[in-house]
Amino acid sequence: MNNTNFVSESELSRQRDMALTLAKEIVPRKLTFFVETFGCQMNVRDSETIKGWLSLIGYTQCESKEHADFVLFNTCCVREHAEKRLMGNIGALKELKDANPGLIIAICGCMMQQEGMAKKLLKRFPHVSLIFGTNALHRFPEMLNAVLNGERIAMTDRAGDAIAEGLPKLRDNQRSAFVNIMYGCDNYCSYCIVPYVRGHERSRMPEDIRSEIVSLVETGITEITLLGQNVNSYGNDGSTGMRFAELLRYVSDVPGLKRIRFMSSHPKDLNEDVMQAIATLPNVCHHVHLPVQSGNSEILRRMNRKYTREHYLSIIENLRKLVPDIEFTTDIIVGFPGETEEAFRDTLSLVEEVGFAAAFTFAYSPRQGTVAARMEDQIPEPVKKQRLQALNELQARKTVENNEKYIGHVGEVLVEGYDERGEETLLYGKYQNFKMVYFPGCRELLNRYVTVKVTKSSKNSLLGEMIDA
Ligand code: SAH
Ligand code: SF4
Ligand code: F3S
Repeated sequence: MNNTNFVSESELSRQRDMALTLAKEIVPRKLTFFVETFGCQMNVRDSETIKGWLSLIGYTQCESKEHADFVLFNTCCVREHAEKRLMGNIGALKELKDANPGLIIAICGCMMQQEGMAKKLLKRFPHVSLIFGTNALHRFPEMLNAVLNGERIAMTDRAGDAIAEGLPKLRDNQRSAFVNIMYGCDNYCSYCIVPYVRGHERSRMPEDIRSEIVSLVETGITEITLLGQNVNSYGNDGSTGMRFAELLRYVSDVPGLKRIRFMSSHPKDLNEDVMQAIATLPNVCHHVHLPVQSGNSEILRRMNRKYTREHYLSIIENLRKLVPDIEFTTDIIVGFPGETEEAFRDTLSLVEEVGFAAAFTFAYSPRQGTVAARMEDQIPEPVKKQRLQALNELQARKTVENNEKYIGHVGEVLVEGYDERGEETLLYGKYQNFKMVYFPGCRELLNRYVTVKVTKSSKNSLLGEMIDA
């Protein structure tokens, strides 16, 4: 069964032609764009595509909204507060639009797929002229053309949730890249809005994924992160002829590809085959981002996560046996409806037991239209806050413990950036298992691999020294 639709080659070339026609008009005007991205890596990757279109059309990227001719917000709606923040951000652009009437203000991303949102925003903010959802990226030239002709556009229909291959992209990062392997989500965790806004799960074809990676490596990229809401269910519908573990094997021999990361993993689908792939493929990194959400099996059942505390712990145990230097990070929600003090203590004890390298922790935020938002026994905000604080304090202590293990550790680090402090330049980068280390060095080592020995651990970070460049 293949339930995936692909955007046709003729439609894609129609959009590309339109982009090139627009470029004739835009290039001489020396226009600039500014894109601000909220939310997860999916949105970061989508923004690269939009920036790719804008570049093809002849805009150049600029550093601030104040000087741009095209401003775009790529939005997230996974938690509630994002909406207020967006409204504030858009309101603030009114002044810029008054000063530069040619300014195009656009909003895209997950929040725009929420029912009624696009309409509401167009009505409330007359200075916004373009709104589009996560499945309209391939139609950007057509939309921009209409806006340049004075129209106000909202394109948020799902259009069959088709996959578009070969869109342009502009990436700011020269060493590491995100590669989508699937779109959407079918898991319907009861708290989560993502399946409603990003549509059903669709996997890209393995050949398309591999050829994207090959061309990234040709530009100097050595680290890729395979992206999906649940990468472990890649190809589970049979549409690609390959499951996730096979995909890992299939892409792992791309010459020059030093590191393969992936996220997120859903515990219900992380099977033995994937564990073996992590253990045996030399460039698959020894790090799994494995969101647990809660340490209490009853809450997990109400979250519709489809695993128990025991199952989760058994995955951790099995992977640690196979891959001794593996590190885990996680996502946790506190204050889910019906979470008793006792259930919350189960989350604390799980965090104590596992020893995550890091945890992203959230207070439950009711999302309209989801099952959990309709549940009784919602937890009062002050209780959620207290629990969040208690959890964060525990994780802070676990992070320190985890860091201490690394004193004396030697390994290869990919240099991601530097801080200049007076005379000294402090480089930072990650070991393959995601642990970050800071060490003195020179800026020329940016994007290179160096061997670093950890000499000291502090509250939040590791300090080290280079033993070979
Ligand atoms: N697909 C990924 C997660 C995407 S959302 C996965 O399943 O792992 C990122 C994180 O946001 C989730 O893991 C969850 O911890 C958090 N989250 C999602 N919906 C939430 C809500 N309604 N309230 C609070 N946190 C939420
Ligand atoms: Fe949301 Fe669950 Fe899908 Fe993750 S797996 S995006 S938490 S529904
Ligand atoms: Fe947010 Fe959309 Fe990602 S809702 S978390 S940007 S998939």
